[in-house]
Amino acid sequence: MRGRVTGTGSAVPDKVLSNHDLESMVDTTDEWIVTRTGIRERRIAAPDEFTSTFATRAALNALEMAGVLPEELDMIIVATVTPDYPFPSTACLLQNNIKAYNAAAFDMSAACSGFLYALTTVDRYIRSGAVKKALVVGAEVLSRIVDWTDRNSCLLFGDGAGAVVVEAISGEHGIKDSMLKSDGSCWELLYQPGPGCRNPASQKLLDGRQNYLRMQGNEVFKLAVRAMEEAAVKVLSAGGYCSDDIDLFVPHQANKRIIDAIGKRLRLPDEKVFVNLDRYGNTSAASIPIALDEANRAQRMRSGDLVLLDSFGGGLTWSAMSMIW
Ligand code: UT7
Repeated sequence: MRGRVTGTGSAVPDKVLSNHDLESMVDTTDEWIVTRTGIRERRIAAPDEFTSTFATRAALNALEMAGVLPEELDMIIVATVTPDYPFPSTACLLQNNIKAYNAAAFDMSAACSGFLYALTTVDRYIRSGAVKKALVVGAEVLSRIVDWTDRNSCLLFGDGAGAVVVEAISGEHGIKDSMLKSDGSCWELLYQPGPGCRNPASQKLLDGRQNYLRMQGNEVFKLAVRAMEEAAVKVLSAGGYCSDDIDLFVPHQANKRIIDAIGKRLRLPDEKVFVNLDRYGNTSAASIPIALDEANRAQRMRSGDLVLLDSFGGGLTWSAMSMIW
């Protein structure tokens, strides 16, 4: 047995923040942002919208497509670095919202790679026979931890969620190979200093703006290109494939220049590379499942296609996965 994606869903906030809006917030231009990142706008949650809000909407869309009832789910994993609360997990809040009371629910923290870490985990549970139907969600409200005075980072990020229903199947379709990798020695390149037990909530924390994410974008950029290419090649060769066999490449949507560099290294024509970051920016763990849902609903994959997913993020963490659609 192995896991197969039988339903996809996504949900993003209504509010659009364009590059032109950002021009009045920090010292930047639409032209700089488009040229350096490919991003034109991103979605921002309203004050009464949370990570669980978008996770719930995305999950219900995915369940409807799969024709699976919430009570049939054995497992729910939410990948996020912006949970509603430190605890309980956002997965438990989601479980309650959709009334999936037969599932084990937990969050996974692997930043932008969180969705592929979670999908790999579910696939392993399915292969072991312990799980038959699962829900994997990537959901973020990054706008709450972005420093809106830091032009080096604030232009990149956006809010939203994507979800997939994964079911146990036998045969040719479904998840083929995946790899997970981390390098904790570089954790300071992308992190949120607090609040946490090292920097508990305090006036000092707020005064030092330590509640906002920090990123050394240039360093992350270089490492991302190298690691994502290596991960893609490794997963392809594990299945006896080469890059020519890829029908659709769905990478983490962080920067168009990162995606272009990997596409070039894999010799992929543009039409085989799915890109939607111009509309959403980098939604961290939500980026791949939102992209997968848009690609699916636009019928960019046909049954039997080889789909390659590839991610990189804070930790550092990276991951790739091949699946037969
Ligand atoms: O999800 C995974 C984690 N994140 C990523 O993968 C992000 C990876 N990194 C990136 O996407 C890019 O590094 C950024 C978009 C963050 C920055 O682009 P860059 O081409 O690496 O720019 P840079 O940091 O090297 O800065 C180049 C110049 C600098 O000016 P000087 O020193 O050359 O005069 C910056 O001060 O651009 C300046 N700059 C800006 N100018 C206008 C930096 N941010 C801005 C801005 N508007 N927003």
